[in-house]
Amino acid sequence: MVSFVNFVSLALALASTASAFPAYGSLAGLTREQLDVILPRLEFKQPTPPPGPPKDTGVKLINDAAHPWKAPGPSDIRGPCPGLNTLANHGYLPRNGVASPAQIITAVQEGFNMENSFARFVTYSAHLIDGNLVTDLLSIGQATNETGPAPPAPALAAGLDTHALFEGDASMTRADAYWGDNHSFNQTLFNELMSFMDKYGNGRYNLTVASEIRWQRIQDSMSTNPTFGLIMPRFFTAYAETTFPINFFVDGRMTGTRSLSKEDAQYFFQRGQFPDGWHRHGVPSSTEGMDTVVNAHPIRPGSNTKGVNTYTADPTSADLSPEQFCLIYVNFVNRSVKSLYPNPTGVLLKVLNINLQWLYDSISEQCPGQQQFPYGNSTTQ
Ligand code: HEM
Ligand SMILES: *[C@@H]1O[C@H](CO)[C@@H](O)[C@H](O)[C@H]1NC(C)=O
Ligand SMILES: *[C@@H]1O[C@H](CO)[C@@H](O)[C@H](O)[C@H]1NC(C)=O
Ligand SMILES: *[C@@H]1O[C@H](CO)[C@@H](O)[C@H](O)[C@H]1NC(C)=O
Ligand SMILES: *[C@@H]1O[C@H](CO)[C@@H](O)[C@H](O)[C@H]1NC(C)=O
Ligand SMILES: *[C@@H]1O[C@H](CO)[C@@H](O)[C@H](O)[C@H]1NC(C)=O
Ligand SMILES: *[C@@H]1O[C@H](CO)[C@@H](O)[C@H](O)[C@H]1NC(C)=O
Repeated sequence: MVSFVNFVSLALALASTASAFPAYGSLAGLTREQLDVILPRLEFKQPTPPPGPPKDTGVKLINDAAHPWKAPGPSDIRGPCPGLNTLANHGYLPRNGVASPAQIITAVQEGFNMENSFARFVTYSAHLIDGNLVTDLLSIGQATNETGPAPPAPALAAGLDTHALFEGDASMTRADAYWGDNHSFNQTLFNELMSFMDKYGNGRYNLTVASEIRWQRIQDSMSTNPTFGLIMPRFFTAYAETTFPINFFVDGRMTGTRSLSKEDAQYFFQRGQFPDGWHRHGVPSSTEGMDTVVNAHPIRPGSNTKGVNTYTADPTSADLSPEQFCLIYVNFVNRSVKSLYPNPTGVLLKVLNINLQWLYDSISEQCPGQQQFPYGNSTTQ
């Protein structure tokens, strides 16, 4: 809920020319009064339709001369996702860290061979909450500079840093938002990850390491973070992300069982950089191996309801059983999106329906007949 005080400070921020509401700022959760101030200042952009699968999905040199690594500049945005940070640092995404959903889908397909329907599902889910639907722009985090986070405007513009839906607790290499910084690379956590690679993976990251570090990070947050939450959609991403280092970061020329070296893990997680001569995987991928991680230490979605060590299951959250996959989508649209955009009108209603349609299209084969219409049947509007 955005409070009245926030509204006053937002109005003041908008009144000063120094900090206009950024074109990538999310409109989710804003009041009617706030929308009335902001919407007239935004330039409407007809959303670009989602790209289809690329023709070439083979092993390919990605760290090439046309895409050199460059450190982000003071006003470039980076965030909690090492995959997207890497793509921006090499120019596969705009180096300022602000992109359209279509650009993000193209980049994750080209750079990491992410499977098309999964890329669409993840990107439109994130965009509906953390992006600006009117300008068709999503930021991959929050503006930072050498001295730390430098939000250009109200915290409403945190992009993928926005806590609790996608950005969430118990990340492998990022601390919980409770401790303040939820998106920067954290050396302490990375050291722990490397020690798990020694202990469970003979110095490399494989599904056994993924299973154990996932469980360790959950237990750590349960016992130290009084606000710890692990419900959908974070419950899904917390597990899905542990497979990404294997499915996406391992060099495509590796034969046999795929696993990631410590050195390459450091490139991606810490520097957001492709290792020298790095090739992408030759198979379009998504969350392969996730069931292994889930089943190693099963737990129900839930949260610490009364401080540390009070983790309580939330029966209203979908879990990760295959039968509940479509419920993740249904609850996301019917609850999360609907509560953040309770009564959209005009151009906002139009772009919400367009993006909701593209989200459903990405899973329509698995979830036939389950499309949600929180704002009425979009095809009749
Ligand atoms: C397709 C669009 C994508 C979006 C919108 C996205 C978004 C995010 C977000 C919001 C997080 C933070 C979640 C947290 O709190 O831990 C995250 C984490 C992560 N992402 Fe992405 N991501 C995308 C694609 C990718 C790709 C292509 C890769 C790999 C190449 C990747 C790898 C990861 C990993 C490994 C983490 C976990 C970091 C950690 O736990 O320390 N993501 N992503
Ligand atoms: C960097 O961030 C600090 C703290 O938020 C801010 O005071 C400073 O003006 C910023 N510098 C640049 C170059 O943006
Ligand atoms: C996530 O971290 C950023 C930067 O430290 C902070 O500004 C933001 O408020 C955090 N989000 C939440 C909800 O804690
Ligand atoms: C890194 O994470 C650890 C463990 O969660 C935390 O104690 C520490 O404050 C974090 N460091 C920074 C710089 O955020
Ligand atoms: C991970 O590596 C360790 C050490 O080599 C091995 O014992 C374990 O079976 C591997 N896990 C998987 C899922 O391959
Ligand atoms: C979606 O929300 C509406 C209104 O709250 C409710 O009547 C409907 O049953 C929900 N649909 C599903 C499938 O959860
Ligand atoms: C939406 O409206 C169209 C056109 O009236 C209709 O064909 C379609 O069945 C409706 N879909 C749902 C799920 O109600």
